[in-house]
Amino acid sequence: MRLLFLGDIVGRPGRNAVIERLPGLRERWKLDCVVINGENAAGGFGITEAICDEVLSAGADAVTLGNHSWDQRETLVFIERQPRLLRPVNFPAGTPGRGANLIDTVSGKRVLVINVMGRLYMDALDDPFAAVDREIEACPLAQVADAIIVDVHAEATSEKEAMGHHLDGRVSLVVGTHTHVPTADHRVLAHGTAYMSDAGMCGDYDSVLGMQKEESIRRFLQKTPGPRMEPALGEGTLSGIAVETDDRTGLAVRVAALRLGPHLEESWPRFWD
Ligand SMILES: [Fe+2]
Ligand SMILES: [Fe+2]
Repeated sequence: MRLLFLGDIVGRPGRNAVIERLPGLRERWKLDCVVINGENAAGGFGITEAICDEVLSAGADAVTLGNHSWDQRETLVFIERQPRLLRPVNFPAGTPGRGANLIDTVSGKRVLVINVMGRLYMDALDDPFAAVDREIEACPLAQVADAIIVDVHAEATSEKEAMGHHLDGRVSLVVGTHTHVPTADHRVLAHGTAYMSDAGMCGDYDSVLGMQKEESIRRFLQKTPGPRMEPALGEGTLSGIAVETDDRTGLAVRVAALRLGPHLEESWPRFWD
């Protein structure tokens, strides 16, 4: 199978990059499943139902979230009727929505998508390792799911690497989100799981993590309240990871970084061209 995961969409430049480029990429590479983190899609803060629909229509099979899940209050309501939108699975019991779902793709495959949040330098949540284990045990790779994608929304690379090795051989892909900066450590781990510490963001990289530079810098220079952070509005770049899996095992065969757009050195899965 051909999987594509894209990091946090930040504001309109991130959305436009997805809307303009994803349909062509799906077609060109015959992608089986596309998952995108959308936690900053609405002006940098959360996601609305209209934006979620827009991203799904552009060719995403599922959208994941993170610590910004509830920045738009409407998400607490519409997530209940949108099974392709996932919030972290280790949020407290009773939290609206779901953290994992077995998604039917247009190519007729079934992909288990799990969104989980780390705990280092983040909110105190339930154990992310145990939470993901439970989901995988209920829906094992190559038995129930054709592929399993885990979005680890976390700050610390140590926690993300630990999750990658913990799940190695049991899922197709463990990919980090949240830092908005793509790492160069994409690889296939010893037992066949594709891994990348952070997918980066889909947004304007002439910025501080996708937000306008001026206010971001000012907040470091002056410890006073200022205007609300706004997304930078230059052309957006797509950033993430492309993974090819073995049809029999569901494990990764090869991986490539995906970076398309201005500012970052471009990269794409040449083995699919
Ligand atoms: Fe984010
Ligand atoms: Fe985040």
